[in-house]
Amino acid sequence: MKHKIITTICLLSLLISSESLRILVCYPMTSKSHSILGYGVVNRLLEAGHEVVHITSFPNGKVLPNLTEVNVSSIADVFKKDVDGAEAFKLKNLIGKGNFGDSALFLYYVYVIHKNFLEEPSVVKLFSDPKEKFDAVVLEWFFTEMNAGIPALFDCPLIWVCSTEPHWQSMRVMDGITNPAYTLDLFTHNKLPLDFWGRAEGLWKVVKKAVQVLILNQFEKRAYYSIYPEIAAKRGVTMPSYEEAVYNGSFMLINAHPSIGGAIKLPQNSANIAGYHIDKAKPLPKDLQKLMDEAEHGVIYFSMGSIVQSDGMSEQMQKSILDMFSKYNQTVIWKFESDMKDDIPPNVHLVKWAPQQSILAHPNLKLFITHGGRLSTSEAIHYGVPLVGIPVMADQVLNMISVANKGFGIKVTLSEDMVPELDAAVQQVLTDDAYRKKAKEISALFHDRVMTPGAAVPYWIEYVVRTRGAPHLRSPALNVPLYQKLYLDLAAFLVVVIIILKKAVKYLMKKKTNKKEKSN
Ligand SMILES: *[C@@H]1O[C@H](CO)[C@@H](O)[C@H](O)[C@H]1NC(C)=O
Ligand SMILES: *[C@@H]1O[C@H](CO)[C@@H](O)[C@H](O)[C@H]1NC(C)=O
Ligand SMILES: *[C@@H]1O[C@H](CO)[C@@H](O)[C@H](O)[C@H]1NC(C)=O
Ligand SMILES: *[C@@H]1O[C@H](CO)[C@@H](O)[C@H](O)[C@H]1NC(C)=O
Repeated sequence: MKHKIITTICLLSLLISSESLRILVCYPMTSKSHSILGYGVVNRLLEAGHEVVHITSFPNGKVLPNLTEVNVSSIADVFKKDVDGAEAFKLKNLIGKGNFGDSALFLYYVYVIHKNFLEEPSVVKLFSDPKEKFDAVVLEWFFTEMNAGIPALFDCPLIWVCSTEPHWQSMRVMDGITNPAYTLDLFTHNKLPLDFWGRAEGLWKVVKKAVQVLILNQFEKRAYYSIYPEIAAKRGVTMPSYEEAVYNGSFMLINAHPSIGGAIKLPQNSANIAGYHIDKAKPLPKDLQKLMDEAEHGVIYFSMGSIVQSDGMSEQMQKSILDMFSKYNQTVIWKFESDMKDDIPPNVHLVKWAPQQSILAHPNLKLFITHGGRLSTSEAIHYGVPLVGIPVMADQVLNMISVANKGFGIKVTLSEDMVPELDAAVQQVLTDDAYRKKAKEISALFHDRVMTPGAAVPYWIEYVVRTRGAPHLRSPALNVPLYQKLYLDLAAFLVVVIIILKKAVKYLMKKKTNKKEKSN
């Protein structure tokens, strides 16, 4: 009898664990690379047999049985009208500028996008419908926590996905601020180990950004309390406070891996999943397949990514790079998004859009010249391709510092006349086999995991649902206020004790001398 009950319970739990879930995946950020990471989550969930509602700024309009897309591409319209803004993001105008990610303007931009997202009519309609039910909500963590109210609407767990190397701003919502003495800021130019000034700068950045975040939080809080309660009322739920919602993440999936980045201290409720967005390599289009197969001296692939594109270069820069390529024996595939005015050398093949993963998978590819974006660097190492990187902004500098440190590529400083440096780096990587060997070695590390990153995505989401939010994994650090973590209360206590002791000693000494005087 006892056995029967146990077997039944086991069978039941098996049934529950293999049950198909309904998951809401929110990737409103209006940037192509973020949306690719969103599709990564969606595709892995669909493959695992779950049903997904995907809120995205880049819907592909495909009809799939278990997928519903919510199109929020309009949330960035306010910025699209900004001609000066678009001009500012052209490559030629970013040379020598500070990192946009470090500016207060960047945080404001992210705030506006997410506020527009929460107020988008189709989103409000979806959230307000009491018939809509989800088992978990997956949110991209991207410098705002305003979305953290969404899981509370559906009374289900929150799973964050951090699209970058983990850093103190993202890990703060799961654990506490990581130590800036050995955890790099996402937009740093420094590398580990930090010297005296590097550590000072790290601490200064924490203080500066903490102030920015404190100010921004006031805006976010106001939006939170003005947007959510109305929707919650329609669903018959009450909202937790802003702080309760923000610090209630059950798990954080992180688009990173120590093989390509840092060995960063993580809380129990997190997992490195870099590479999860990479699909099985699709066949190349016929013309590119032929081109790559027949390239006698191998192929160089050059792309500056999807935000800062190659066609934003000055004409002089385009020309000097073409000149450089024309001297190479290799065939060059250059992702160049518009028509080029210059004469194109015969060994250079321009494409407006590139099937990047398929190009990287081709055995005849010798080198990838990249802007050092997160997707590009992880896709390159997935296929063991060495890099030459020209980082422009965001986390590209940090990514390329890591690549150079680990020895599978070279970082080049972006400038109008960078061609000699770029050329030297390309020749170095092409002629010194150490880069290619290192890329293969690190690629092996990247793949050597308990489970593939693609399998880890549904695994951890199912785990969180199964364990009702995985409260046992929650970091105790979240319940300890900052002043207690810094032992400021103990410091204050010791100061008081010392003052009292000093006073007491002084008093006793005085008494003693008084006595002496009297006896004299
Ligand atoms: C769609 O989801 C249902 C359960 O909701 C599942 O049984 C089915 O296998 C899924 N279909 C696909 C094509 O994944
Ligand atoms: C998404 O919405 C925009 C307008 O807001 C529209 O131009 C676009 O075609 C839509 N995309 C899809 C796939 O429906
Ligand atoms: C926090 O998340 C857990 C797990 O999903 C949930 O049960 C709980 O109600 C949430 N708490 C708040 C205050 O939202
Ligand atoms: C191109 O190939 C030829 C013959 O293999 C070689 O002599 C030449 O040095 C190569 N040029 C460059 C720039 O590598």
